[in-house]
Order: sequence, then C-alpha cells, then structure tokens
Amino acid sequence: MALKWLIVLVLISLFLWTTKSEFYSSTGDMTQLIHIERDVIQSFKDYIAAEEFHLARLKSSLPLIEYFSEDIPDNLENYISNPLTAYAFVRRLKYKWTQVESMARQSPLQEFNKFLVENSPNIPSDKDLDGIALGLVRLQETYMLSPDKIIGLGQTHAETLNPDEAFHIAMIAHENSKFLHAFQWLQETLRQLDEGREASITRKEVLSFLAPFVFQMGDLQSAIKLTEQLLDLDPSDLLIANHLQYYKHMKESVHREESQTAPAETHIFTPNIAKETKAYEALCRGDSIQMTPRRQRVLFCRYSTGGRNPRLIYAPIKEEDEWDAPKITRYHNFLSDNEIETIKNLSVPKLSRAQVWDTKTGMNISTEVRVCKSAWLSEGEDPVISRVNQRLEDVTGLDMTMAEKLQVANYGIGGQYEPHYDSKLSMDEEFYTRGGRIATTLIYMTDVDIGGATVFPAIGAALKPEKGSAVLWYNLLRSGKDDDRALHAGCPVMAGNKWVSNKWIRARGQEFRRRCGLSESD
Ligand SMILES: *[C@@H]1O[C@H](CO)[C@@H](O)[C@H](O)[C@H]1NC(C)=O
Ligand SMILES: *[C@@H]1O[C@H](CO)[C@@H](O)[C@H](O)[C@H]1NC(C)=O
Repeated sequence: MALKWLIVLVLISLFLWTTKSEFYSSTGDMTQLIHIERDVIQSFKDYIAAEEFHLARLKSSLPLIEYFSEDIPDNLENYISNPLTAYAFVRRLKYKWTQVESMARQSPLQEFNKFLVENSPNIPSDKDLDGIALGLVRLQETYMLSPDKIIGLGQTHAETLNPDEAFHIAMIAHENSKFLHAFQWLQETLRQLDEGREASITRKEVLSFLAPFVFQMGDLQSAIKLTEQLLDLDPSDLLIANHLQYYKHMKESVHREESQTAPAETHIFTPNIAKETKAYEALCRGDSIQMTPRRQRVLFCRYSTGGRNPRLIYAPIKEEDEWDAPKITRYHNFLSDNEIETIKNLSVPKLSRAQVWDTKTGMNISTEVRVCKSAWLSEGEDPVISRVNQRLEDVTGLDMTMAEKLQVANYGIGGQYEPHYDSKLSMDEEFYTRGGRIATTLIYMTDVDIGGATVFPAIGAALKPEKGSAVLWYNLLRSGKDDDRALHAGCPVMAGNKWVSNKWIRARGQEFRRRCGLSESD
C-alpha cells in the first residue's frame, strides 16, 4: 500500500494550536482506508458477478418479450378494431411491460450504488492527497532527503513512485514555495521518463514547466538547454522558439555586461537556491545536539519500574530547585503496555475527523492540511485514566484538580507540530478559572522508528519518544509569566507511528506546591 495510500485525515483541537498545528496524518485512519480499499475491490467483484447473472437472465427472457402472437397486418386500424385481437393485444402488452419492469428492477446496480454512497465520505479528497504530498516534502526538508531516499522508503514495502506521482509532488512543492524540492521532484520525473517508465505525463509537459522555472531561479544557461530540448521534441512550436530566442537574447546582453567575466558553464541541474533551515529542523535531524554540562543539568532522568503501587514507587519531587523551569524531567516506565493499550482503545472511537478553520482567511483549510488527530479522556471514563492522573500527581507533586483532561494524539507519517508554546493560547476560556498552563506532561505511548522527537530549540534539547516514558516541563516561571525557553516542537514522523498523551496542568491549586518566586526567573 505504502506511499500511494498514505492518507491524511486528522483533526484538531482548535484552541490548542491555532495556526501552528502541523499534524499530519493519522495511522489509525490509514489503516481504516486499507480496509476500505479491500471492501471496494470485493464489492466491485460481487457487483460484476451479479451483473453477469442479471444479464444472463435478461437475455433468457428476451424470447418471451419478443414474441408476437401473429403477424400484424398493414392496416393497423382494421386490426385493432377486432375486439378479440384488441383484448389479446392489450393483455400481451401489459404482460410484457410487467415482465420488463420487474426484470429491470432486479438490477444489482441499486445495491451497488448504495455501497458507493455510503463509502464516498471516507474516500480521500484531492485536498487530502495534496496534503500527503506536502507531508512528504516536509519530511524531505526536515531530514534533508533527496527524492530517491524518499522513494527508497517506499521500496521496503515493494512500492515506488511513478513519474506521474513524482510530478504531482513537484507541483505541490511548487505551490507551497518549496522550490528546491519542486526542482528535485521534476528532475526525478525526468529521470524516470528517461528510463522509459510508463506515465501519462510527457517529457514535453515536464520540460515546459521546468524551463521557465529554472529561468525564474536565475539559471539562464539551464533554461536555454531545457528549452532547446523542448524545441527538439516539437520544432513546430512557435511559443517555445520564442522563449528560446528571448533567453538567448538575454544571455547575450548579460555577456556583454559582464564582458570577460562570463561564468563557467554550470551543470544543468545545479540551480542556485537559498536554503532555509530552521533551528528545530537541525535538532530533529539530531544535528548540533551538544550535551553541555548545563544542558545535562536540565535533563533529569528518573527510573521507576511501574506496577502495582505507584504511590510508593513514584516519590514526589522534593528539592525546591528541581522545579525550576525550564528543566525537563523524564520518567521511564511511567505507563505499562497494558495501560497504553487501554488508553488507545478508549481514544480510537473519538479520533474523528474534523476540519480546521484558518484564522487568517476565515476559510476551512487551504493548501496545507493543518489537521491532527486527538481525543480527550476524562477521569471517570476508565479506572486506568484515574490511575494515570493520580500517578501524574504523585510524580510531579502538582495538584491535578484543575488540570485539563488527558489528551491523546496520534500522528502518522509526516505528522508534526511546528515550534509552539503550550501556555500561549489564543483563546483560553479556562484561564480565569484555572490559571495558565503551568506545566506540561507528555507521555509517549509508542517508540517511533525514525523521527518524531520532541525538541526544545531554545534549550537545544531533543527527546526521542520512548514507549511508556513521560516528560515534564514548566511553561511558566515562578512569577507566573511565560517562560520563553519552553518553546518546543514535535519533529515530523519519518517512519512509524507516534501516539502520545498530554496532560496540561493549570496554575490554580499549585500555590502551595510550587511557590511563587520573588524574582522573575529562578
Ligand atoms: C483493546 O482492544 C482490542 C481490540 O478490540 C482488544 O483485543 C484488547 O483486549 C483491548 N485491550 C485492552 C487493554 O483493553
Ligand atoms: C468550515 O467547516 C465547518 C464544519 O465543517 C462549517 O460549519 C463551516 O461552515 C465551514 N466554513 C467555511 C467558511 O467553509
């Protein structure tokens, strides 16, 4: 199945991450789609068989319908005015009509149409497909992968991308101003076409896009070469000939201006594009993580064995200075496999699809499918939830009365959050009753094969998901103000499946647990 079916159906909790939510796909939904594909195949086969059976019956009934009791003479009026003939004729016609009607009504098409109507809401739209393509481009960007590396990922599942698909990804990258990637995918499309791979996209179409594109990127030499190739394909195309003239003319004037200092001929596929890299992407790749002693101090590790009596096992943090922001504390074996399974089971039915409202345009999502999958689980829903809440209280030493419900989120391939603050909500209706989000607990419910780390660009820390472990950090300083160092991001998932739970702890009720400081920082 792999890449073609990597589909993205995700939802959002709007007030949590308004514009910055960049969740991608949900593997739960993908699995659902694979089932749908099987259903479609089977239902279509059944439909064909039913149609064949139906057609055979129709054919076998034909002699009955075609049957004329006698030859109809030329004089119709004379013929039908005989009462006996009229009776026999009307009876015959009525019988035939009834037969035809009942036969037609037995068509299996109606049944099949019902299947189509029921399933069409589950079938991915063009927007979904574009969303996945953009997800691939993001992965490429973050992990600095070439198209053949991306395609290599597919081949482990005996699946690869064809020239049409490579071209589609190029178009999506281009629409989203990811020009380097658009260029790479166009090259990949050409490479595959040169290999003689079957495609509906033609060399001419690709070159027609690529030539003006490299021209816009300032690579005149390549634009000329590509346009020459284009003209070779269709010497009668005057527009192409015009373009070529124009490029050549430009080159000459450039030459004249630069006089002797004409640049050496550049390789046809080396455009000069400024690359935009983000600090967090470097962290996601595992670059530039240097564990200085200072950084080491902010990362605490606590081991616990999990199990029966968490109250005894998870001693609350006591030392005052361990509470200082922005320390990140990781607790290993915080959840057991069984607890994780229960939490997933509880949230699966709630991980429904929803659209995202774009605050900028007031419209529902544009090119970027900014969607994620999440579900909220409350205390009373299952003993496991109340147990987890209690354990969080024991571990963090913070009061959970005012904390938000447990949020479960599932990201699939390409799923990510761009850097954001948990405490800086645009519409926080609970702020006045519960206070700000003083701390965040993030519980990893899966290991992730590649990618999916949680990174703190301001601190330079990267945490790899580890199934069953939990991470705690403070978003607010003791003064109650936002701690800018709590900026964090979820790296795109490159391979695998990422499930996490979030618990946002509110400031109200923590007055005696985490005292206010006299100074702004600690
Ligand atoms: C979760 O759901 C699966 C499938 O319905 C079931 O087999 C499994 O026992 C459930 N696990 C827990 C811990 O409830
Ligand atoms: C966006 O989607 C929601 C829910 O599907 C719908 O109620 C709303 O009218 C949509 N808004 C626009 C501008 O399309």
